[in-house]
Amino acid sequence: MKQDVAVAAGPMTKNKHLIRWVEKMAELTQPAAIHWVDGSREEYDWLCEQMVASGTLIRLNQRKWPGCFYARSDPKDVARVEERTFICSLSKDAAGPTNNWIDPFVMRRKLKELFRGCMRGRTMYVLAFSMGPVGAPMSQIGVQLTDSPYVVVNMRIMARIGLPVLAEIDKDVKRVVPCMHSVGMPLAPGQRDVTWPCNDEKYIVHFPETREIWSYGSGYGGNALLGKKCFALRIASNIARDEGWMAEHMLILGVESPQGEKTYIAAAFPSACGKTNLAMMIPPAGFDGWKVWTVGDDIAWIKPDENGRLRAINPEMGFFGVAPGTSAKTNPNAMATLRSNTIFTNVALTPDGGVWWEGMTDEPPAECLDWRGERWTPEIGKKTGKPAAHPNGRFTAPARQCPVIDAAWEDPAGVPISAFVFGGRRSDTMPLVYQAFNWSSGVYVGATMGSETTAAAAGAVGKIRRDPMAMLPFCGYHMGDYFRHWIKMQRSLSATPRIFHVNWFRKDENGKFLWPGFSQNMRVLKWVVDRVHGRAQGKETPIGWTPYYEDVEWAGLDFPEAAFDQLQVVDRAAWRHEVMAHEELFINLHDHLPPEMVYERELLICRL
Ligand code: OXD
Ligand code: MN
Repeated sequence: MKQDVAVAAGPMTKNKHLIRWVEKMAELTQPAAIHWVDGSREEYDWLCEQMVASGTLIRLNQRKWPGCFYARSDPKDVARVEERTFICSLSKDAAGPTNNWIDPFVMRRKLKELFRGCMRGRTMYVLAFSMGPVGAPMSQIGVQLTDSPYVVVNMRIMARIGLPVLAEIDKDVKRVVPCMHSVGMPLAPGQRDVTWPCNDEKYIVHFPETREIWSYGSGYGGNALLGKKCFALRIASNIARDEGWMAEHMLILGVESPQGEKTYIAAAFPSACGKTNLAMMIPPAGFDGWKVWTVGDDIAWIKPDENGRLRAINPEMGFFGVAPGTSAKTNPNAMATLRSNTIFTNVALTPDGGVWWEGMTDEPPAECLDWRGERWTPEIGKKTGKPAAHPNGRFTAPARQCPVIDAAWEDPAGVPISAFVFGGRRSDTMPLVYQAFNWSSGVYVGATMGSETTAAAAGAVGKIRRDPMAMLPFCGYHMGDYFRHWIKMQRSLSATPRIFHVNWFRKDENGKFLWPGFSQNMRVLKWVVDRVHGRAQGKETPIGWTPYYEDVEWAGLDFPEAAFDQLQVVDRAAWRHEVMAHEELFINLHDHLPPEMVYERELLICRL
């Protein structure tokens, strides 16, 4: 598609509401042009070309990195901004104490002010997108108006966009979620643009009752690719509660046995706990014939089917993964996925037109340009303590390029979920794996899960941050009501998935990891699968069922029983302390907590 065609093409829909809304928003934001995104490859190429010309993108060495581009953001626009994220429900109580809230009428006035004329001198892209396969029963539709072509090309990797979605909108059967986005940097006539326009003032706003998203001031990741965290989690969690399904911050994987039995698992971990690695894991030596298949690495939409079985889709179409730490050793499937047609943001640029980040190779390049565009050598890094890639540097890569993408990853009916796994980074207390006694004790396990803060995040290192179901920054309503919804879901199920908790990060008294992790986690997955199918015993402990040594597959790994016992020990004193720590969360949410959570806590205290 050529620019003159795009601009002249006009509305690519017959939907009057959509056309009227676009007109109204154009009146408000005053763009220089309107471009209806058709989603074609030609259009994508053309947009990338434009951004190479403007300096926003750098084309990588096409021999080594075919179809790949590189971007550097403004150093003040590098991550999601939780403190600037708002759930503007009609009542403050509906948003709950874990979300930022501002009166929706006050917020609307503020947004009108911010968006007035904010697209001057820029093109407004009308980007229709479907979260989930176009036309699938579980899919949802949104239209994002954005003044960022970088967002458009990233969204083309992360979601289904353009003409097929507009055709769905024309059928007028699904409600469309309007998503407004501006980088918040209008251009005066003749004003030179910067390579990464943004605004120091940022607002990421959700109106749950009217199902609207307004995002201002940022062009980065979850702040700007509105289908992802804003829609697929914060707004979708509201829709899911109303309609009886679940929008979760979970990876989905399928474990296939040598006999061809496929078992799907959905797992929730807070950031920096290896979700993408687990989703794409390669089984270790000793697991001949076993395979792990990827359905998704970040978000799962899960709904009971007509037989009362939970089925899940990955609403996304790409991976927006953290680059640092990703390597041929830690995640060869991710490395294969991002080899082509990928957009890299805030990693380092090597002199041969490639990319590099900390952890990608043992040997850093002798020299490169860091994520700010400054010369970087290992010596400079050592002297200044500055990494070459930003710790939140990302790759945006098409999921279909993943060598282990599951055959059913785009099945409109979703995949059947047999187990939920919760986990966090805990150096003590939490065993490698245990299974909750039942659904409500499993919900308690998810609700109280926590993870130690790492050096990468601000604040004290090693402090436990409670992150219920890894949804703390993503639940679009009161967390207590969210637990209620989990409890209630059981009523619509004929068979509930089993619920597990894992911890790959337990350490001994000398601070040494007790478990090798990575591909060895397959041994835990196999026990989970065996439990689901009633093939493995569980040893009863005060916190749940744990594996017997003999029930874990040890082929290919020398791991003595004594070491396993140390890894699995349930230390009652530590656990009493742990349960006391759960109080912090419960005090906060007490007036919305389902009674089951209180009973489960009492039961746990009694068992300890
Ligand atoms: C993400 C996150 O980017 O969870 O996926 O922060
Ligand atoms: Mn995530």
